[in-house]
Amino acid sequence: QAWLDLKQFWQGKSLLITAGPTYENIDPVRFIGNRSSGKMGFSIAEAAAKAGAKVTLITGPVQLAVSDQVKRINVRSAEQMFTAVQAHYSNADCFISAAAVADFRVADIAEQKIKKQSDTDEMTLTLVKNPDIVAWVAQQDDKPYVVGFAAETQNLIEYAKDKLQRKNLDMICANQVGETLGFEQSENALTLITSEQELELSLATKDELAVQLLKFISAQ
Ligand code: CTP
Ligand code: CA
Repeated sequence: QAWLDLKQFWQGKSLLITAGPTYENIDPVRFIGNRSSGKMGFSIAEAAAKAGAKVTLITGPVQLAVSDQVKRINVRSAEQMFTAVQAHYSNADCFISAAAVADFRVADIAEQKIKKQSDTDEMTLTLVKNPDIVAWVAQQDDKPYVVGFAAETQNLIEYAKDKLQRKNLDMICANQVGETLGFEQSENALTLITSEQELELSLATKDELAVQLLKFISAQ
């Protein structure tokens, strides 16, 4: 019955999802990354495809596979992810921003491997802010239903609600992260928040949470 309900809503709908980390190059052999595994976004993509949605998944570098029903676009940096999202958002009924987008990139990527200087014990990298992808989508006149994630180590609900407002999102999924929670795990706990509603989902596999999340969206 649950799947039937999901199918009824998602059949033929178009869903755009970002997932995974972004890698910001420092030089040809080094980058700045983060601990996002991509699992949450991939689980959502898979569940939505199973429910009959047309799914486009834009993913940073991850070690995950996805079924053939999902259109997969591989990117590396936040800027590449932004370009791909700009090219695809207008066809989407819903955009879910599950990627852990790097907030900053390296100002000047070195063309050659940076050599360790022998005359100093310090080195400084200048970083510049990346575009906020989900906030950009939420600003467009033809915006889809926009869902963000908030991965926080403290003040989870307060920070998540602040992001919901500040980025003009329709919904945010608050996600407690830490050494043994959230990132790199196959289980997770999520709180789904809109301006009207708050629903706490208890600890479950990311596959199970994906189904509950898609069900919640279909009820909005
Ligand atoms: N996000 C994005 N583009 C960015 C940064 C974040 O699209 N450059 C999206 C994420 O995919 C997520 C949401 O914004 O859906 C919240 O990301 P988060 O890192 O929690 O928020 P920030 O605004 O970057 O705040 P901070 O890192 O300071 O907590
Ligand atoms: Ca951030």
